[in-house]
Amino acid sequence: MSKNFYITTPIYYPSAKPHMGHAYSSIVSDVIARFKRLDGYNVDFLTGTDEHGLKIQRAAEEKGIDAKKFCDEISKTFRNLSKTLNLSNTDFIRTTEDRHIKSVQNLWKILEQKDQIYLSKYSGWYSVSDEAFYNDDEVNEKNGINVSTISGSKVEWVEEESYFFKLSKWQNKLLKFYEDNPKFILPVTRRNEVLSFVKSGLKDLSVSRKSFSWGIKVPSNKDHVIYVWLDALTNYISALNYPDTQDIKYKNFWPADVHMIGKDILRFHAVYWPAFLLAADLPPPKRVYGHGWILSGDEKMSKSKGNILDPLEIVDKYGLDCLRFYLLKEVSFGNDGSITQEKLESCINSDLANNFGNLCQRVISFNEKNCNLLVPENVNFEKDDLNLLNKISDNIASIRSYIDNQELSLYTNFIIDCMFQANKYFNDQEPWKKRADVVRLNTIVYVSLEIIRKVSILLNPIIPDTSLKVLDIFNLKQKHISIESIKDNKCLVSNSKLKKIGILFKKIDKND
Ligand code: ME8
Ligand code: MG
Repeated sequence: MSKNFYITTPIYYPSAKPHMGHAYSSIVSDVIARFKRLDGYNVDFLTGTDEHGLKIQRAAEEKGIDAKKFCDEISKTFRNLSKTLNLSNTDFIRTTEDRHIKSVQNLWKILEQKDQIYLSKYSGWYSVSDEAFYNDDEVNEKNGINVSTISGSKVEWVEEESYFFKLSKWQNKLLKFYEDNPKFILPVTRRNEVLSFVKSGLKDLSVSRKSFSWGIKVPSNKDHVIYVWLDALTNYISALNYPDTQDIKYKNFWPADVHMIGKDILRFHAVYWPAFLLAADLPPPKRVYGHGWILSGDEKMSKSKGNILDPLEIVDKYGLDCLRFYLLKEVSFGNDGSITQEKLESCINSDLANNFGNLCQRVISFNEKNCNLLVPENVNFEKDDLNLLNKISDNIASIRSYIDNQELSLYTNFIIDCMFQANKYFNDQEPWKKRADVVRLNTIVYVSLEIIRKVSILLNPIIPDTSLKVLDIFNLKQKHISIESIKDNKCLVSNSKLKKIGILFKKIDKND
């Protein structure tokens, strides 16, 4: 079994500064990347910015700035956001980089050589906001404006010479590929949408534009720039040093394990991308996961709608780990989910401060008073103790499968339940009444510490900083911890010294 793992986020348009939707895709990808690393995998985690095309050209023109300069500036804010969000990405790609331009032009040449591309004329609808072509039956008039029925964004009529990719030829091969790889598209509802789109018939796809210049030139015809989606999708292999398919990075990490994306860009990833790759004789990715939208009220949170919760402001006000945890907990993963500051505050108070924070504080202070900040010796596990400990140890296979199937809500809820059970155990066992029975008292404290260790390891992918603060009680650093170690019910060494910790989460007073 290969111990390499490659996960990507979408590369975002630097047409405006990043918002919560971008933060969301990046954070959920980071959770998976961090889990796999904790589970012994060599993980490559890619994010970046998608800088070509009419959308960016126009945004730059509006500001009266040169397109490249415009991208340099905004791309930097995305790079900074990755740091602010504590993403563990191993690379950040920009589509204006040479390594990417070389890769796209090479892919184009191969498609041309394999007779997958021909010159003709495009006449049809185009949405600059989505950088997408739409069929007549996908366009509606709304208040005198033509809009896409798929995304709701404005479309314009385009008529120009264009290269086409022979997408129609790939319809049956794609259907066969989906059938052979039933988990290629997740969640299942998304897979069904794609299947019915492909079954309804694929037309050849326009893959170049002539009427503007901000893009990668078609190698054999400098009057054309390559369609920004053919350009953008290729980033996933550019970052692995494609076209050098003998390169160690490419060999280790392609095909990607997961392309994490929002459902708005599913068609590009689940239809066009595997078709381009199959046509070039390259293997398609193993998984495309199209998560739902972060809503504000019941509308999609988006730059163009202006209904944005700024991730930087939220991080500033509440702290990063609170945001990361809240997003994981609040949104039923795969579905749309609406988020509010009010619910974020309740989550901090109940799940983080009362549930997790309280568990850590009370166990450590009880230990300090009764066991001198040492891991107890003379312990003897009884049924209640094993029930709690084994809840985690015996479920390691399910825990791994949650992550491998991107069932992030199951993963998060499992942890929340463990914290709850651990608090309940401590209450029910009443160690403060067991001072006459040293073995029993020691055992309860030992079990509680073990559970704190295990839960903190499971929390590490979601709230890395806080998890490490807690694990520092045991003097455990990032490099010491692993998923495998949660199997062990007696990992903590008796008589080793424990460190005290400060307040993990400050409760928010709603009247403040
Ligand atoms: O589409 N809720 O870039 P983009 C959840 N450059 N996720 C959201 C979201 C929301 N309200 N809004 C955005 C592009 N996202 C292309 C991608 S990939 C080869 C090229 C996230 O800046 C979600 O992942 O419009 C969505 O798919 C992505 O940002 C779109 O970002
Ligand atoms: Mg978009």
